[in-house]
Amino acid sequence: MLGVYICKSCGLFQLKNPAKLKQQLKEMGVDHPDCPKCQGCVVGVDVSYAQYSQMSEEERRDLAERYVTDRKEKKILITGANGQLGHALNKLLREKGGCRIFNTSRSAGKGEYPVEILDITSEEAVRQTVREICPDLIINCAAHTGVDQCELEKEAAYAMNALGPKYLAEAAKEAGAVFVQISTDYVFRGDKEGAYVEEDEADPQTVYGSTKLAGENFTREAGGKYFIVRVSWLYGEGKNFVRTMLKLSETHKSLTVVNDQHGTPTSADELARAVLFLAERTEYGTYHASCEGETSWYLFAKKIFEYTGKQVEVLPVSSQEYKTVAKRPKNSVLENKKLNALSDFRMKDWQSALEEYLKELGY
Ligand SMILES: NC(=O)c1ccc[n+]([C@@H]2O[C@H](COP(=O)([O-])OP(=O)(O)OC[C@H]3O[C@@H](n4cnc5c(N)ncnc54)[C@H](OP(=O)(O)O)[C@@H]3O)[C@@H](O)[C@H]2O)c1
Repeated sequence: MLGVYICKSCGLFQLKNPAKLKQQLKEMGVDHPDCPKCQGCVVGVDVSYAQYSQMSEEERRDLAERYVTDRKEKKILITGANGQLGHALNKLLREKGGCRIFNTSRSAGKGEYPVEILDITSEEAVRQTVREICPDLIINCAAHTGVDQCELEKEAAYAMNALGPKYLAEAAKEAGAVFVQISTDYVFRGDKEGAYVEEDEADPQTVYGSTKLAGENFTREAGGKYFIVRVSWLYGEGKNFVRTMLKLSETHKSLTVVNDQHGTPTSADELARAVLFLAERTEYGTYHASCEGETSWYLFAKKIFEYTGKQVEVLPVSSQEYKTVAKRPKNSVLENKKLNALSDFRMKDWQSALEEYLKELGY
């Protein structure tokens, strides 16, 4: 049976036998065939040969419009766009310009930018959305990020953190899009002496960590072009440690904060910068992207109050004294070894990024 294919660069339609084509590609060891006219990437369209043959010229032009990527205007699909990273990406992409953003999330947004509903745990919905948009880049910011909640909602955590990325990575491969999956320091055991590098063995200790690792593995197994970007201690537009400390400072003169867990606070703005930097490159694979430097939650809290001039006494407490449902890693420090080896691109140190964030909040 014939299938209809199109070049994403020049819009040339091609009719091929999908089974034969797949076999040829396997033998050639490539994901997508090059277009004979312009060497662009050729992908299948969601229209059968029978439907295609009935189409008018105008309908074919409309169909091509959906698939052809204007080189000046990249199509970027963001999932989980209502979250911290989603906000930061929207801000940065609007500043940069030159792209079309398709924001999606589980619920409608708050109106800052248009957000369509897409639940990434629905395989059918993911496939249909990706086919309709035919993006060049998909950035998955959606996740079940409640570390304690995940222990109580194992199935939901697996659906959001593992199956969602699986469906997205598979749909991305089919569309010839680059897929960015955001991951976490929680995939590691958290007891290493020194910072974790990309090649360190994963050994998650929590439901959150193991479901995020499953999401990483599904992304790799899909066999497309992907970046897995691990980050730690994220804060941006949403609920996070910085905002919690600032809120508590309104009602407390002194606070106790854990002193024996180490990591690197990372602003969503810095993560967005790293994600978009990577997405321009072709060295696919797994990367760490946290701000530079390291600290403890206790010293992080002290810095927040120092920068905002708030008179709050911070008292150190051990993890033993501050019990949580899910085990917290002692060491969450991620070294950006591969990212730093690529070019001169560097993420800011965590203090400068924090200062900038607080300035934006009006401090
Ligand atoms: N926060 C951290 O400290 C931290 C640390 C390390 C790694 N990470 C990773 O960094 C990434 C971004 O985190 P973040 O802090 O920006 O997350 P976030 O603020 O919690 O936002 C996640 C978003 O995902 C959406 N979402 C949840 N389930 C969904 C589903 N089934 N379908 C579609 N959207 C869904 C939610 O959308 P609605 O608002 O529409 O419901 C939410 O806005 C995640 O992969 C996370 O695992 C975070």
